[in-house]
Amino acid sequence: MTEPVVDVHLAEDHAARALASDARAGLSASPKSLPPKWFYDARGSELFEQITRLPEYYPTRAEREILHARAGEIAATSQAHTLVELGSGSSEKTRLLLDALRDAGTLHQFVPLDVSGSALRDAAAALAEDYPSLLVHGVVGDFTEHLALLPGEAPRVVAFLGGTIGNLLPAERAKFLSSLRDVLEPGEWLLLGTDLVKDAETVRVAYDDSAGVTAEFNKNVLHVLNRELGADFDVDAFDHVALWDAGQEWIEMRLRATRAMRVHVPKLGMTVSFEDGEELRTEISAKFRREGITGELAEAGFELSRWWTDTQNRFGLSLSRAV
Ligand code: AVJ
Repeated sequence: MTEPVVDVHLAEDHAARALASDARAGLSASPKSLPPKWFYDARGSELFEQITRLPEYYPTRAEREILHARAGEIAATSQAHTLVELGSGSSEKTRLLLDALRDAGTLHQFVPLDVSGSALRDAAAALAEDYPSLLVHGVVGDFTEHLALLPGEAPRVVAFLGGTIGNLLPAERAKFLSSLRDVLEPGEWLLLGTDLVKDAETVRVAYDDSAGVTAEFNKNVLHVLNRELGADFDVDAFDHVALWDAGQEWIEMRLRATRAMRVHVPKLGMTVSFEDGEELRTEISAKFRREGITGELAEAGFELSRWWTDTQNRFGLSLSRAV
């Protein structure tokens, strides 16, 4: 087998600095907020894996159903030589694509990009072993910052799956899509997974499951701040809140203080006050409509070429061409 190559574009202390700067900004803001990327330490990633297996959390299964049915068409349409995966999460979905592209005979290279160096190295090693003729070239980086450095022979398919684009605010989304378009040549591809607008209750319970796993996942971000910044959040003094915003068509996760409190954050030199009932926003997860995402893609210079949903119309997968 060919040994995987891993390029590192993040300084050793990148995560620590970024967390400190995000926490400083978000905890001083009104209303308070934190970016969702800080959920994913080892415990948070494990909790997310558990979420994907919950009966209420449909997106992972719905997207897998589409990929399973359409991987062959994706390979035939794109004729990709390189598969790039942004935020390379579950290698199960990746393998559906790799198998189809390998069977189509066009695939040479796989480029997973992830902020976690350890997760990336493990995934790269396993894939290099299972796909002996594949060149695996991992990139440790942040998909909102390091797109310009993506290696790989054209045409590439850039896969951004799971509905993670929904975690970006509309302006961040537009910027992300334009930056991605800028690093592609005309004729290269974006494979984008988007959770779809549906009845509010189905979405709400997907983010507030009866087993309480999502609540624990949400509160995990406070454990991250306690560990990394020396903070003294009383995690049990916060309630998990999942709220559908019908105007924005996104679900919001928040943590609600169940009493007034002061939290010390030594590494930021800050003391943060919460009023009784005050909420800290930890995630938005936008849901999409076909017309809306088609327009956003067009705005960024992508032409939607194929659109698929699962049989229950819960999740959308689009294949778009850079124009
Ligand atoms: C991994 C970003 C797709 O927004 O649905 C799961 C994360 N948050 N439950 C999502 C998540 C709460 C998830 N993504």
